[in-house]
Amino acid sequence: MTGSLTAKKTPFCILGIESSCDETAAAIVASDKVIHANIIASSSALHAQHGGVVPEIAARAHLDTLAPVITKAFTESGLSWDDIDGVAATGGPGLIGGVLVGTVAAKAMARFHDKPYFAINHLEGHALTARLTNDTPFPYLLLLVSGGHTQLLLVRDVGQYERVGTTMDDAAGELFDKAAKILGLGYPGGPALEQAAKDGDPKAVKLPRPLKGADHAHFSFSGLKTAIAQQIEKHGTKMSVADYAASLQAAITDCLADRVRHAIAYAMTDEAFAAHPQLVVAGGVAANQAIAAALDTLCHETGCRLVVPPPHLCTDNAAMIAWAGVEYFARGEASSTDFAPRPRWPLDDNAAPPPGRGVRP
Ligand code: KG4
Ligand code: ZN
Repeated sequence: MTGSLTAKKTPFCILGIESSCDETAAAIVASDKVIHANIIASSSALHAQHGGVVPEIAARAHLDTLAPVITKAFTESGLSWDDIDGVAATGGPGLIGGVLVGTVAAKAMARFHDKPYFAINHLEGHALTARLTNDTPFPYLLLLVSGGHTQLLLVRDVGQYERVGTTMDDAAGELFDKAAKILGLGYPGGPALEQAAKDGDPKAVKLPRPLKGADHAHFSFSGLKTAIAQQIEKHGTKMSVADYAASLQAAITDCLADRVRHAIAYAMTDEAFAAHPQLVVAGGVAANQAIAAALDTLCHETGCRLVVPPPHLCTDNAAMIAWAGVEYFARGEASSTDFAPRPRWPLDDNAAPPPGRGVRP
């Protein structure tokens, strides 16, 4: 971020735009934490028949939907451009077509209305949401579990993130979605698989716990995807969909809890964290009740405060982007309109790669 600015009024208001995946969203959030509007249009139905997000379809949907979504944010809030003090948009990481649509729109509106522009890292939006919803003070450990990301970040301040763990392959939500597809449960698979798991036996199908007990806090889910596919091929209809779903959900939950336990132990070596340990959970997978219960137990055992923002602010939304804009505005830091969208944009540039193959941004 560059430049310097001061608010002309308090509270000040930021218009936020999110368009990095399949949600086209606009929100208006004030510095006193009032969410004046939070509008989301999802193109997920258009992707359902493909079993996953199709980038070209998503980009076109953003183009068609962004202007009406922004108009709706103004209409619902009853605010006008005179009330807006800055425009924030997701600048990455994400699908480049969508990020481009949001970035170009935000820059054009900011320039036309003579407001500062903020290019926001989507992950930073997730990382700072707990400050909007739960007044969470720094530092805290963040578990971000979505369809695109599975990361553990030590959040020390705005712009100060230490990546403690990340996935070496698939994200946890991606595994839910892929397994649900194999089981014929539809897309997005997470909620459907959780529902199916309710009637199943979590011990029925033998599945591995990749990286459990490993001396780091990274994740790996691709082995579980192969394992569940092999088990389905082996046992077919001799086992119920409910048993497959419950067993997979239990394996994912075990892996997540084990990796978070390791990350908490690491974070406890940080004096400020140890003085007031907090775990914040964000991302669509956080809505899963079995996972939430396991993290709750873990926090009790380790003396951590567990913070889970409301589900509609845990999944992709523009209020989190507007709020990150508020945080940067308050620090007097705006972005240059020369900012180029970043399909890959790690929050921690110094993060060492985990042992293994690729690393997600
Ligand atoms: O954060 P999100 O809305 O979008 C991004 O991926 O960025 O997360 C969506 C992911 C999908 O993979 C979806 O299957 C998963 O979150 N999900 C769940 C549940 N609800 C959503 N996974 C497990 N259990 C759920 N109840
Ligand atoms: Zn997200």
